[in-house]
Amino acid sequence: MKTSDEVLALLKENMGGFISGQQIADRLYMTRAAVWKAIKSLKKSGYEIEAVTNKGYRLRRTADVINAVYIEEGLRTAGLPVCVTYKEETGSTNEDAGYLIKASKDPVLVIANMQNQGRGRRGRDFYSPKGTGLYMSLALNRAAELLKTVKVTAIAAVAVSQAIDNIVYNGRNASFIKWVNDIYIDEKKVCGILSEAFLSMEDEEQGYVVVGMGINVYEPGEGFPADIKKKAGYLIGAGQQVKTGLRNDLAVEVIRLFFHYMNAADESLAIYRRKSNLIGNYVKVNSFVPDDKASGYARVLGIDDECRLLIEYENGQKETLTSGEVSVVKY
Ligand code: BTN
Repeated sequence: MKTSDEVLALLKENMGGFISGQQIADRLYMTRAAVWKAIKSLKKSGYEIEAVTNKGYRLRRTADVINAVYIEEGLRTAGLPVCVTYKEETGSTNEDAGYLIKASKDPVLVIANMQNQGRGRRGRDFYSPKGTGLYMSLALNRAAELLKTVKVTAIAAVAVSQAIDNIVYNGRNASFIKWVNDIYIDEKKVCGILSEAFLSMEDEEQGYVVVGMGINVYEPGEGFPADIKKKAGYLIGAGQQVKTGLRNDLAVEVIRLFFHYMNAADESLAIYRRKSNLIGNYVKVNSFVPDDKASGYARVLGIDDECRLLIEYENGQKETLTSGEVSVVKY
């Protein structure tokens, strides 16, 4: 067992109460300096540890603490060497992951407890309050090769949706994918995905892809801001119990499934279609291209192998949508 894990175990044994640095040192046969180093590393991993003079250390009772070490080990056990970084607060994990992957051979995962400049698609903000969400970005090397072979964003949507079902709903098919890559439960958006690719003109090897996923795990204490209140949802309501380590287990499962589906494109596409909440429904197509004819009401016929939406307008005209947003309408 690592020194920090041993110290953590002791803090957990004393959960809620204080234990002095000397007591920890005596129990674990280590120096005070080693105890202090372990505490520092645990804090860096996301544990909230109070240090009070003449009393010692106390692990706060916050049950769902993000722990980079736990996540990295969970992934390594699944045969996935991913370099995991935790940030208590950051601007955007997409930004951080994009920076870190430049110096890493292995994939990089950055997770934050809060983002103060969370980015959404089409230049929107992504509301990322403290302690209630799982805000994480996975960065991968060799973007050009990746983008040629797999649909990274669709795979991420399938991975998040399946992971939510497995970890939070005991395997029940509770979440849906709204084309292109939002995850919905009970008609509310619980997760948004922002994928960004950075390609190098000089060297194909240099490019990288960042897949950013923002999951609203808990209902924010202060509620959602007015502009997203109607649309935004969460996995666990304020009245429900906070689950120990839920965000860690969810993070491991999302990333594990992401890599699984990277090697199982057909399986991933089949799940993407099965989980699509649009097929057979009528939608309003909101095109972002000026004067685009892809605008108006249409029925969704299906999703093709390129993850494009096949629709039929009221006048019988068929169209294949690659972008643009759609909203479900009641007919
Ligand atoms: C959307 O719904 O428009 C996409 C939202 C993507 C949000 C995630 S949170 C983690 C990562 N960091 C960001 O700044 N954005 C993504």
